Amino acid sequence: MDPALDAASGVNPDRLWQRLMTMATIGAIPGDGVDRAALSAGDIEARAVLIAWARERGFAVEVDEAANLFVRRPGTEARRDPILAGSHMDSQPKGGRFDGIFGVLAAFEALEALEDRGVATRHPVEAVAWTNEEGGRFSPGCMGSMSFTGREPLGRWLPIADAEGVTFETALTQTLAATPDLPRRPFRTPAHAYIEPHIEQGPTLEALDVPIGAVTGIQGSRWFMIEVHGEMAHAGTAPLVGRKDAMRAAVRAIAALQEACHDPEDVTRFTVGKIEALPGSYNTVPNLVRFSVDLRHPDAATLDRLGDRIARVCERAATPCSVTVEETFSQAPVVFPRPIVSAVENAARALGLRAHAMPSGAFHDAAFLAGHCPTGMIFIPCRNGISHNPAEYATPEHCAAGAAVLTAALVAMDATAFA
Ligand code: HGY
Ligand code: MN
Ligand code: MN
Repeated sequence: MDPALDAASGVNPDRLWQRLMTMATIGAIPGDGVDRAALSAGDIEARAVLIAWARERGFAVEVDEAANLFVRRPGTEARRDPILAGSHMDSQPKGGRFDGIFGVLAAFEALEALEDRGVATRHPVEAVAWTNEEGGRFSPGCMGSMSFTGREPLGRWLPIADAEGVTFETALTQTLAATPDLPRRPFRTPAHAYIEPHIEQGPTLEALDVPIGAVTGIQGSRWFMIEVHGEMAHAGTAPLVGRKDAMRAAVRAIAALQEACHDPEDVTRFTVGKIEALPGSYNTVPNLVRFSVDLRHPDAATLDRLGDRIARVCERAATPCSVTVEETFSQAPVVFPRPIVSAVENAARALGLRAHAMPSGAFHDAAFLAGHCPTGMIFIPCRNGISHNPAEYATPEHCAAGAAVLTAALVAMDATAFA
């Protein structure tokens, strides 16, 4: 039997589903969701569970200084660079049971399937869990994969604090202290390839009734934190004329940005997801309003043009209040190399599964691994395209199909010398 199909036949749908449901209990919230913030007690617990599963199978486990976790099945030629597969275990504050964790557990299932079927690979194969992909607790996202690939120094993230004032450095130290025996892996360790299984987080595959997405690339994302500065005043006595009301100014700025980013083709994505007003009292005119902007577009020039206008649009709209604009995250659009996309399509076809080539609207750690090694992604459908919501759901059958395609693709990539 073809070794790729042989390995894929080792995928055990029940085992994968049980592992997904076990992880779903860690940080569980009402409505079948999870709240498992990066480097939280829940994240630390999920890591310990994954490490225990790895050790039961005799897989080696390593960690790097950003707490990215690597579970390794050896290859026959140890000197070869590993093939990485995985995603993230942290979630949104009101997240779902599949975003990120499906990719980590599908990669772990691929290691088990290779082991169960005794299919050897020349390259080591590693299941990876990247630290803080979501950026919910510590903003921005993808801190782990940006540190590993050298896109940003780890030191940039250390002073960033969460809503309780806990710094990333403190939380990272606690997380690393929970696994003191794990060997440390240097950043920028070479990799033969990286492939990330993930739920689509959109409606396309479900609408097409296709079980696999061969992801062609990831649209670009830019995050901004905007501060509007006014003057505190008494809500009852200060006339509206002459107020420097930071909330009124922020509302005008957000409206102006929505207008500036309006796209009749509905391709541009503009979201204000966080806003806070200080001092936060009914009867004091706010002197400071902070709000976030998440801006996305598949075309780099358009993303540049829209993002570069944000400061000017806000300054004009917020007068007489002043504005500061900080860009906190920037990920250029990424196109995955054809050989990796083909490896996914060919694996699906060999397994008798239809695959649809499509871009990703969501960003992923793969956006940064793409600058490190040949990279790609495998999508599976999610119900009604819902994600970043406790109602997020993927079927056991689609999870198993994604893991089987991953396993077959890994064997194919093992035999491929990428340019
Ligand atoms: O925000 C994103 O696109 C990713 O799901 N974290
Ligand atoms: Mn994700
Ligand atoms: Mn997400």
